[in-house]
Amino acid sequence: MSDPINIGEKVIEGKTKIVFKLPDSPNGGHVLIRSKDRITAGDGARANEMIGKAEISTSTATSIFGLLNECGVPTHYVRRHSAKEFIALHCHMIPIEFVTRRVATGSFLRRHPGVKEGYRFCPPLLEYFFKDDANHDPQWSYEQLVEAKLDIGGVVIGANEIAQINHMTACIFEILERAWSVTDCSLIDMKIEFGVVNATKEIVLADIIDNDSWRLWPSGDRRLQKDKQVYRDMKEITAEGLAVVKKNFEWVAEQAKKLSRPITGRVAILMGSAKDAGHVSAIAKVLQSLGVHVEQHVCSAHKGTVDTLKVLARYEGDDVSTVLIAVAGRSNGLGPVLAGNTILPVINCPPWSESAGSLDAWSSLRLPSGLGCSTVLSTDGAALCAAQMLASNKENSTLWGRLRARQVMMKVSLLQDDAKIQ
Ligand SMILES: Nc1ncnc2c1ncn2[C@@H]1O[C@H](COP(=O)(O)OP(=O)(O)OP(=O)(O)O)[C@@H](O)[C@H]1O
Ligand SMILES: [Mg+2]
Repeated sequence: MSDPINIGEKVIEGKTKIVFKLPDSPNGGHVLIRSKDRITAGDGARANEMIGKAEISTSTATSIFGLLNECGVPTHYVRRHSAKEFIALHCHMIPIEFVTRRVATGSFLRRHPGVKEGYRFCPPLLEYFFKDDANHDPQWSYEQLVEAKLDIGGVVIGANEIAQINHMTACIFEILERAWSVTDCSLIDMKIEFGVVNATKEIVLADIIDNDSWRLWPSGDRRLQKDKQVYRDMKEITAEGLAVVKKNFEWVAEQAKKLSRPITGRVAILMGSAKDAGHVSAIAKVLQSLGVHVEQHVCSAHKGTVDTLKVLARYEGDDVSTVLIAVAGRSNGLGPVLAGNTILPVINCPPWSESAGSLDAWSSLRLPSGLGCSTVLSTDGAALCAAQMLASNKENSTLWGRLRARQVMMKVSLLQDDAKIQ
């Protein structure tokens, strides 16, 4: 059951979705996107009714948008409204399909004879296709896109805006690729669309990402493909063939629900004295903003060696991935003692003292041989370093996504600042 909602006039109707205004939303800035029970291919040349497709597609799209929003990627998605509908920010759409490829297949092979299927693009390859069904969505070069100077709701899509979109596109692909790889599915390629939010003029991921937006090969094996390619490849449409396609779409929708995974692992911050609590809380804040579980202890390697090793033993006594951060002023015995007694990664993050910081730092840097701890002076840096260690665990794909989006959005925000001062 969905809450009652005042649906306004139709904004646009396409082959698979209808968009309606929502006059009672904040400043009327939201739209309702309703999916149809319809599957199409070949720019609409092939089209079939498929009962249940709208619900399956909405389920996949809202799972994907949920994950991307959780990671901090800007999207138009607000919330799911009903089985076949979701609420989004009203956008002016950029009429370009932004395609990302990890593995060469399909149309790329036809356009690039000599390249074998399976060639891996590192980094993923980006391509642009102008949305024009009548002309079969022609490919555009970067130069064509820049020169088109598309005016989208007052924002001209120039070099700066394209750079922002390129960063976001690659980031979205990588986040989804990693999330899918946990279930042993290879994301081969992906096509997405961006819009300019009417109200804020921000460029965001819009339209939908569903099983029509990518190639998805379980175990990296094309013969096992689960995406819409199965429908495109059908020589003639049969009821049995459509049933297989629908089953694949359902399977993908179910798997997509699991793509946003709980963040696993923990960071234990050990401080030599309770006086270091302020420094520790600055580290903890960054980790908690990423969703990482943090525990704190007061223990001194110099004055309470046995008790410190007991704390360490607790972190070694279960199966939870753990990164240790040692916070100790003056002479940092804590980090090096931990590093000499555990295989868990240890990061020293000594609080900086104005009077003797440069002397104190040597106790973290000049270590006895055979110790493998690292030292990061900034609280931000230590937290990010610890989070990146946890994110190297393949299961931690949501944490990886949050870190990647944070990194990429720094690049995007620099570009936005650059655009403002021009
Ligand atoms: N947040 C949004 N605000 C306004 N329009 C949107 C938004 N998200 C998607 N749209 C537009 O909704 C339309 C309907 O989608 P649908 O995918 O059914 O169209 P289509 O037949 O595939 O045509 P197209 O080739 O334009 O995608 C598309 O033109 C899409 O750009
Ligand atoms: Mg479309």
